[in-house]
Amino acid sequence: MATTTPPSTGTSVRELFDAMSYGPAPEGDAPVRQWIAAHGGTFGHYIDGAWVAGADTFEVLEPATGKPLARVAQGTAADVAAAVAAARAALPAWQALDDHARARWLYAIARGVQKHARHFAVLETLDNGKPVRETRDIDVPLVARHFYHHAGWAQLLEQEFAGHHAYGVVGQVIPWNFPLLMLAWKVAPALAAGNTVVLKPAEYTPLTALRFAELLHEIGLPKGVFNLVTGDGATGAAIVEHPDVDKVAFTGSTDVGRHIRKVTAGTGKGLSLELGGKSPFIVFEDADLDSVVEGVVDAIWFNQGQVCCAGSRLLVQEGVADRLHDKLRERMEHLRVGSPLDKAIDMGAIVAPVQLERIRALCQQGVEEGATCWQPSWAEPKDGWFHPPTLFTNVAPSATIAQVEIFGPVLVSMTFRTPEEAVALANNTPFGLAASVWSENINLALDIAPKLKCGVVWINSTNLFDAAAGFGGYRESGFGREGGREGMWEYLKPNRVHEAAPHPVIPASAAPHERTDASDHRDVPDGMPAIDRTAKLFIGGKQARPDSGYTLTVRSLHGTRVGDVGEGNRKDIRNAVEAAHAAGAWSKLSGHQRAQILYYLAENLSARADEFAARIVSMTGDPLAAGEVEVNAAVSRLFTYAAWADKHDGAVHDVPLRGVALAMHEPIGVVGVACPDPYPLLGLVSLVAPLIATGNRVVAVPSERFPLAATDFYSVLETSDLPAGVVNLVTGARDGLARTLAEHDDVDAVWYVGTQEGATMVERTSAANLKRTWTEWTGREWLDPRAGEGREFLRRAVQVKDIWIPYGE
Ligand code: NAI
Repeated sequence: MATTTPPSTGTSVRELFDAMSYGPAPEGDAPVRQWIAAHGGTFGHYIDGAWVAGADTFEVLEPATGKPLARVAQGTAADVAAAVAAARAALPAWQALDDHARARWLYAIARGVQKHARHFAVLETLDNGKPVRETRDIDVPLVARHFYHHAGWAQLLEQEFAGHHAYGVVGQVIPWNFPLLMLAWKVAPALAAGNTVVLKPAEYTPLTALRFAELLHEIGLPKGVFNLVTGDGATGAAIVEHPDVDKVAFTGSTDVGRHIRKVTAGTGKGLSLELGGKSPFIVFEDADLDSVVEGVVDAIWFNQGQVCCAGSRLLVQEGVADRLHDKLRERMEHLRVGSPLDKAIDMGAIVAPVQLERIRALCQQGVEEGATCWQPSWAEPKDGWFHPPTLFTNVAPSATIAQVEIFGPVLVSMTFRTPEEAVALANNTPFGLAASVWSENINLALDIAPKLKCGVVWINSTNLFDAAAGFGGYRESGFGREGGREGMWEYLKPNRVHEAAPHPVIPASAAPHERTDASDHRDVPDGMPAIDRTAKLFIGGKQARPDSGYTLTVRSLHGTRVGDVGEGNRKDIRNAVEAAHAAGAWSKLSGHQRAQILYYLAENLSARADEFAARIVSMTGDPLAAGEVEVNAAVSRLFTYAAWADKHDGAVHDVPLRGVALAMHEPIGVVGVACPDPYPLLGLVSLVAPLIATGNRVVAVPSERFPLAATDFYSVLETSDLPAGVVNLVTGARDGLARTLAEHDDVDAVWYVGTQEGATMVERTSAANLKRTWTEWTGREWLDPRAGEGREFLRRAVQVKDIWIPYGE
């Protein structure tokens, strides 16, 4: 038989087999480009159900080519005002709909997104530069999932969120890294809860939001329910600062988040912030290193590393570090960077030249600070804005690249020896968003997860998201959650009981900071001076003299002197915070153990009820019966939180994963509390008890006007087995001490009940380390359990940590 030789292709089978390279598989973009062209390449705002041309427009560029893609309007303050007015006008009718009707609208949106899924995916890829494989398989399906999930919450609103109502008009500002997904995370819960929306997409990536507005128009969503204003930071600022916006939700950089915290301080606007991160990716020696490598690819090269929760700090146990780095370099050599429309590439383009420059500058700084930079041998395309995957080793934990958010495809690797060291390194940034833990030892992984300061932990996995699970962080990663039941709370407010009849404001004493006057001691019955009983501060389980060396006179409402208290200052607060930190073991006790101590507190308070009642009326001038009512209510409140201590448990979220997502309730940490003047005992107990029941430690500033009920209370604390430092009491000028608490970097949250000026100060000051705040300056009927206790307090006292645990071999 004659043999034939195949025509030569220049590549042997052997070479093809070795290279395993494949050709391009481009996704068609013609329909999307036609859609842009059909709009004349220029888009306006979507306000009150109509398209409104902008006076000024700016160009949107395509990151993969650097070429112009479209023009969009630069929103002015007038545009924002029109959008807010439309949202306000639409609110009554939107809220008058029954739950099912709102559910139907959300359902219609989900269906619409699915019907146009490919259009959204391709448009997103053109606008943002991220691979179409990701927009098609991750971003857009998650968007639809979010609207379906929240159609469900809309349907169940009355049943599951009884006693709450929507904020009203919500202003939302989103970033460019997941343009449509961030829109869905914001818009779906807002609408499901009955709010109306004004949204601004990022200036680099407004196109899918515009297409989304068009979709809502097509399905006929009532006008004004959703309004879209495009523009840059100035437009965002106009939304945030608009007085008729009831709540602001922001995702973006920590600097802008901090600024927004300051400008909304004291306005009473709701605020949720989802900010940056520097998330650790922790690899223990016994981890499956091949899975780890794929995990790292997802953690830091997904979306070119422009992910707030990117696993950007690889922390690897020393014994396997070299092996893992070798494997990573090998894998990086085979990653493909190129046109994001090509379904065969791994990484697309960086969103904008400014971002590319920022990444390059930080890499340069890494090298200058002595770290070793490694990049694959191949060159990335030069037409658009591309950056190769990059690995830094020999990085000092204090190096700039180990501390700041690079927001690019740059992995920074460090080593550790022991689990304790891993936790210390992991927590060694001001952020607290997410973490991945890799180990085949489930005991180790589950031991580490609660020790990590972050809102989300993925075990042997990374970057898992779902509408049913909350996402968000703490510290400089912001506050609030998106997704799941916990995310719905961000868009709802409790219906206040007796709001119409706030408790009368207590008039300030003639000289509230009056220092003790010697003449007050002259009234001595038997010729001998009385034995002095000046109440001290209570810090670290001990009575402590105030650092200032001064005492303050406490006068009754009628002006008579009823006693003295120490005048606490900045140093006393610092000591108290230190004592509270040292009492960390409290947070690890079981709910049952904490309940036992709360019951004991109630028992000891009850035993001295008459004395406490007399003390209260000596200050307030109320009839004795009123004092008795207050003390009994305080005893009951302690019982309430003893009851809750082992019942305010988390949830197991039903996420589409072979595994579980545990939503754990964690204490926030050390919480500063400034107490109200009305009900000097009950107010203190109502604020402190939910915090300690959930495992927090507290530094409380008792009622400034009537502090003696609180200083008596420390003898109850002393005799009830409460560990030293769990509750610390510093008497003195409320707002001055609250300021020190708000400024303190080691205070994790501040609860403040006082004046609007004081609340403004607390919120503004807390922006420094972005601590959580809860402020109130309107009256609350503390005696009424519906207003003075319950889940609202417990929710504020904890943060939800979602721990994802896949299972199966
Ligand atoms: P950015 O925080 O400035 O922008 C995010 C959004 O906020 C955009 O819509 C922007 O127009 C708007 N904005 C800007 N200034 C505002 C203001 N004063 N008031 C209200 N809205 C305002 O973020 P940028 O400049 O785009 O990126 C810079 C860095 O921020 C990135 O390198 C990255 O480190 C970080 N970042 C983090 C994100 C995250 O998801 N955590 C998302 C985007 C950026």
